[in-house]
Amino acid sequence: MARQILIAGNWKMNKGAADGAQLIKDIKAQFGASCSCCCSGKKPEVLVCPTFTTLSAVVAEAQGSCLLVGAQNIHWADQGAFTGEISGAMLKECGVTHVIIGHSERRQYFGETDATVNQRLKAALKNGLTAVVCVGETLAEREAGTTNAVVERQVRGALADISADDMKNVVIAYEPVWAIGTGKVASDEQAQDVHAFIRGLLKTMFSCPCVADGTRILYGGSMNAANAAGLLAQPDIDGGLIGGASLKPADFATIIKAATKA
Ligand code: PGA
Repeated sequence: MARQILIAGNWKMNKGAADGAQLIKDIKAQFGASCSCCCSGKKPEVLVCPTFTTLSAVVAEAQGSCLLVGAQNIHWADQGAFTGEISGAMLKECGVTHVIIGHSERRQYFGETDATVNQRLKAALKNGLTAVVCVGETLAEREAGTTNAVVERQVRGALADISADDMKNVVIAYEPVWAIGTGKVASDEQAQDVHAFIRGLLKTMFSCPCVADGTRILYGGSMNAANAAGLLAQPDIDGGLIGGASLKPADFATIIKAATKA
C-alpha cells in the first residue's frame, strides 16, 4: 500500500502570530505561485504546527494553499477547570486539522504519560482531528538496549482501545529523544530498524493488515536539509516531524522536495 509522505513542522514555543504568518508567507514563496506541496498524487502532505496563539493567524495565511495546520497538544475533556489546557472543540474552531500528541518534551517536562497520551489521542479522534503520536527512547534507554521495549510500551499505551478504523487518522512519529534538537541524527539504518519494528508491532496489534500497511510512521530528531533524503528513502519512513529546520523556509522546502523524490 502506498503511503503518502507527510512532512510536518513542529514550531514548538517559537513564532507569535505576526512572525508565524510571515513564516507561512516565506514558506509559500519557496514554491512560487503554484503550490508544489500538494495533497494529491505522489506529492507529500505538508503540515505546520504552531503554538496555540499563532494557530488562527497561520490558518488564515495558509488558506488557499495546500498547507495543513495542526496544534501541539489537546486535552481530553471537552471543557472545564483545566488551567493551561485546550480542548478539541477549541482547536477545531481555530481551523486546525491535526494535533501532535505525546511529544517527548511533554513527557519529559510536563508529566505526560502513556495513559494521558491515550486519553488525548481519544479526544483528538473524537473531534475529527488527525493525531501525530510521538514515541522514542532516551539515550540511556538506547544504551541499555531497551529501545524496542520502550517504544513498544509507548505504542501499546498510546493505542489502547483504538480501533483499526480509528487508525486511519493516526500517524506515529518515532523521535529518539537523544536526537531531538541536538544535531545528532539517527542513522538511516537506526531509524529504519525502529520504524520496521513499529510496523511489525502494528501487525501484531491489529488483525487487519491494512493498519500496519497504511499507518504512516514519521522520523523526527534533527532531520534537516542535508539528511532528509537518506532518511526518507528508507522503506518504513513515511515522512518527518521537523523542529529546528521547519523554522527555516529554505531548509523546510528542501526537505519537502526530498520527500517528493522519495
Ligand atoms: P528537531 O525537533 O528537528 O529540532 O530535532 C524535532 C521534534 O522535536 O519534533
